[in-house]
Amino acid sequence: MYDHSHQFEQVSRTISTRTRPFFSNISSPITLFRNSTGKPRRVRFGIVLPAICLFLYLLCLINSLLYGLFFGPSRNSSNNDRRPAGHGPVKPPTWLDRGDISEMEMRPVEGTNMTTAILLSWERMDSLKEIVVHLCPHVMFKEIMIWNNKVDIHLEEKMFNCPKVKVFNSPNNMFFVARYMACAMASSPYCYFQDDDWKIHYLRSMYANFLRHPQFLHTDTNSDVWALTNWRWCFFEDEVNMHSCFSWLGTGSLATRDSVVKFLKQASVTDMDPLEFAYGDMYFSTFLNQVPYQLENYLEELVDPAKDEAAFSKGSSGKSRNKEYMHKAAQKAWDALKRKDPEFEQEELHPTYLQRDVRSPCADDRCLMISNKHPFPDVRMFKYRPYIDIEEMEKIHTLYEDPSIYIRYPFSKAVDGMENTAYKSTQPIAQGDYIGLDMLLEIDRKIEYRLLYQMGDQWIKNAKLEVAGSDAVYRTIPLQYTCKDIRNMDYNGKITLNIEHAFLNRARDNLIFDKKEVDKLEYDLDVDKDDDDDEEEEQNLNQNQNGQQSPKKIPELSYYEDYGWRTQCKFVVHEASKFRFMRLVSGQDEAYPFVVYDLGWKVI
Ligand SMILES: *[C@@H]1O[C@H](CO)[C@@H](O)[C@H](O)[C@H]1NC(C)=O
Repeated sequence: MYDHSHQFEQVSRTISTRTRPFFSNISSPITLFRNSTGKPRRVRFGIVLPAICLFLYLLCLINSLLYGLFFGPSRNSSNNDRRPAGHGPVKPPTWLDRGDISEMEMRPVEGTNMTTAILLSWERMDSLKEIVVHLCPHVMFKEIMIWNNKVDIHLEEKMFNCPKVKVFNSPNNMFFVARYMACAMASSPYCYFQDDDWKIHYLRSMYANFLRHPQFLHTDTNSDVWALTNWRWCFFEDEVNMHSCFSWLGTGSLATRDSVVKFLKQASVTDMDPLEFAYGDMYFSTFLNQVPYQLENYLEELVDPAKDEAAFSKGSSGKSRNKEYMHKAAQKAWDALKRKDPEFEQEELHPTYLQRDVRSPCADDRCLMISNKHPFPDVRMFKYRPYIDIEEMEKIHTLYEDPSIYIRYPFSKAVDGMENTAYKSTQPIAQGDYIGLDMLLEIDRKIEYRLLYQMGDQWIKNAKLEVAGSDAVYRTIPLQYTCKDIRNMDYNGKITLNIEHAFLNRARDNLIFDKKEVDKLEYDLDVDKDDDDDEEEEQNLNQNQNGQQSPKKIPELSYYEDYGWRTQCKFVVHEASKFRFMRLVSGQDEAYPFVVYDLGWKVI
């Protein structure tokens, strides 16, 4: 199934004949674009095309019928994290109340027409069309360029109901490198990439952050992959100025055309062979030698992975091949940095990955969650060595810090508009730690914020409210809040409000927050736990309920467990001088981590 060897030979031949003129011509990518989108190449497909379309249409129809029958309702109800699919720019989910604003209000327009969307098409015509429908209304896109890698299908612009579409039918399957070729040809300064098996909902918020920091590749991924690309797949070595992490581009990414053109030059100076060149995706982010600015959120997959045989990176053979090329890319980057190749950036640009605070898009793409709390230790502690392969690196990192807690409670859970999911930091709160929102543009509306959390009472009492304009220079403003306890309707355990309060408000000095938290959590999540344990626990709790509260009697609960009550606090920000960023800064070290069920807002 993954036997591409004959295709690779073809690719090698094509690439070597195509890249030579390309590299010599690299200073004028626009010329190349005009040349290559001249006239349609295959007239003979004029007759076959309707037949193919009809076949695809029927296939799509049958597929969707079968899919609906077998997977439709059960899939949605069985998984809370699945959001319903929508068309066009993300509409506010019905559960998210932003108050009285229209669809277009408080939407940034900065960067209009400055980006070209590059879509690679392998096979899935139906999902490609769906993606085009989804991307087309976004004003950031000047063009949507479809690079058709599937040689036996001829695509035409009129097949897509979007005036921005430009089609390029590749004479050969160019694999991933087609992205970079297409971007180098683009007539806009920025490129957006995605594969045809994902639907990316958070374009505008990612773009807002990209416009602030265009020097960094921006990518969008889920917490699982975020934990790989920000911890286990990072390559740092100060002696050669290496500071890069691998990141996929297929789940939504933004880069400057300049960085892509530079990558094509890097491919030439590092003697990448045609096969490596075809796997360009495994090299691009690492060669940039800057940690990608990566946002974390829920991803919607358009194709059922279990049934999808065409997906390139899936399956164990796909995975190990990817890691092999990821490894080669890191080795090549290390070599180039060691010999101080001028095509490779030596300097680590600011903000470095530890200085960044933008984390996750809000569920309706109208804001970004910010926090300075980094979930993993500084990756610099592991020096990259070219003889350590990726599997080994993953093991070393996981042994030091298991990312599973972060994966389960990532940043995005604070802004997904759902009250039963939470962001829980992997470390206790320290003085100066903050959580907040980037509203994407400067606003002067009156905004009521609502925070739903499970943390001690003194947190909000000690917190400072800060706001900033587009320059992100913060000023402190008065924080007037009202809080109340909200019942968690899903909780059916035995912890009462008093016990929970006593636990969360314990004096800091009799507290240990360490890795045992995780063990306690595993215990609490175990639904089939012994009845004996339950009884014992019950007795403990009864004592606490009836007797006087004493710190010694408080049962050893876990900060990560969701108990019967959460605190809901509301406060209003209304700045005549406008603001874009809002954050709550912790006033002191606390014993507990951030446990934020929701950070929402609405116009009042
Ligand atoms: C963006 O491009 C479209 C189509 O060419 C044009 O109608 C529109 O005015 C442009 N917008 C801006 C802000 O340049």
